[in-house]
Amino acid sequence: MVGRLPVNSRERFLAACACKPLGRPPVWVMRQAGRYLPEYRELKARHGFLKMVRTPELAVEASLQPIRRFAFDAAILFSDILVVPEALGLGYTFRDEGGIAMEGRLESRAMIEALAPESAVPERLSYVAEALRLLRTELAGKRALLGFGGSPWTLATYMVEGGSSEDFARVKALFYEDRETFDILLGKLTASLIAYFQMQIRAGADAIQIFDSWGGAVAGPDYEAASLRWIRAIVAAMPEGFPIIVFGKGTGPHLTDQAFTGARVLSIDWSVELASVRRSLPENVAVQGNLDPAILNTTPDVSRRETIRLLESVRGSAGHIFNLGHGILPQAKIECVEAMVDAVTSWK
Ligand code: CP3
Repeated sequence: MVGRLPVNSRERFLAACACKPLGRPPVWVMRQAGRYLPEYRELKARHGFLKMVRTPELAVEASLQPIRRFAFDAAILFSDILVVPEALGLGYTFRDEGGIAMEGRLESRAMIEALAPESAVPERLSYVAEALRLLRTELAGKRALLGFGGSPWTLATYMVEGGSSEDFARVKALFYEDRETFDILLGKLTASLIAYFQMQIRAGADAIQIFDSWGGAVAGPDYEAASLRWIRAIVAAMPEGFPIIVFGKGTGPHLTDQAFTGARVLSIDWSVELASVRRSLPENVAVQGNLDPAILNTTPDVSRRETIRLLESVRGSAGHIFNLGHGILPQAKIECVEAMVDAVTSWK
């Protein structure tokens, strides 16, 4: 930082996390390394998704692809939230019709107790640390480097349901019928994620995003017990002041509670109005978001117009990271992403 102005993307990103005033917000998008990019599709056709995740050089390549094309201020490690269940002994694959299939599902206390110990997680995921270290070198302090993981609740849904789910019936049955076993599983996931995130921080992550993608599936009065208390425990175990970003999908009613977890940034889904969220949250909590990803499937003109409309709606408020309200869709158009990024970076 020279004087008060950030001189590069990484500093801009960190300044936004710290709610410092900025001329324009930093910008990146969730799932920025993904199927909307022809070079990603090509890399995946050659190697396959799981090999890309497990091979540091390929994960680095996938992470850098969007950075080469667009003026994003942050790179996010190419990986998946499901590497943590895999490290605990429950691997994942993809269903032909779309969605995730786990290699089994947790049906008893004994199966939970038979999972690998949480202390095994950092070692089993050492390829993630290696990819982060390589990325850190590639980025050379110019752009922010983001690590990530799933929330304990969101990971538990995959492990108890045996994959993607429509109704979350099994994991909810566990939560309501046998809270003690539920808590053992969530406690184990929480400890695993703490060790995993500490490893990511040691490897050079500038910030970490926790994806509570299925937080919105929990009944409102039970969000605290099913998901938020475990997220709070993770945030509390991180180094003081380290930027943690919490993304909850469908958790709009719980934003105030999320803000009091100690997370420095809340990532806001597209269902809520960013300006009213900004006004209602404490000033020392930054917000990230929240353009509807579907806008990037339209035209560059619409993408520019809607980007500027969102920027204007929070003009003058510190602590905004521009992003989508959820992951970019495979149908997103490159020209629309360009128009969005250009609108943000040229905004005055
Ligand atoms: O943001 C990034 O660019 C980093 C990479 C990233 C991926 N997955 C790569 C990926 C991140 C941050 C994730 C997180 C993730 N993975 C979440 C939480 C984020 C969210 O969107 O809420 C979840 C729920 C998962 C589990 C998962 N992995 C799903 C549901 C899928 C889609 C399965 C399908 O139907 O295709 C994946 C696969 C996946 N992870 C892809 C990518 C780029 C697509 C795989 C492909 O190329 O076919």
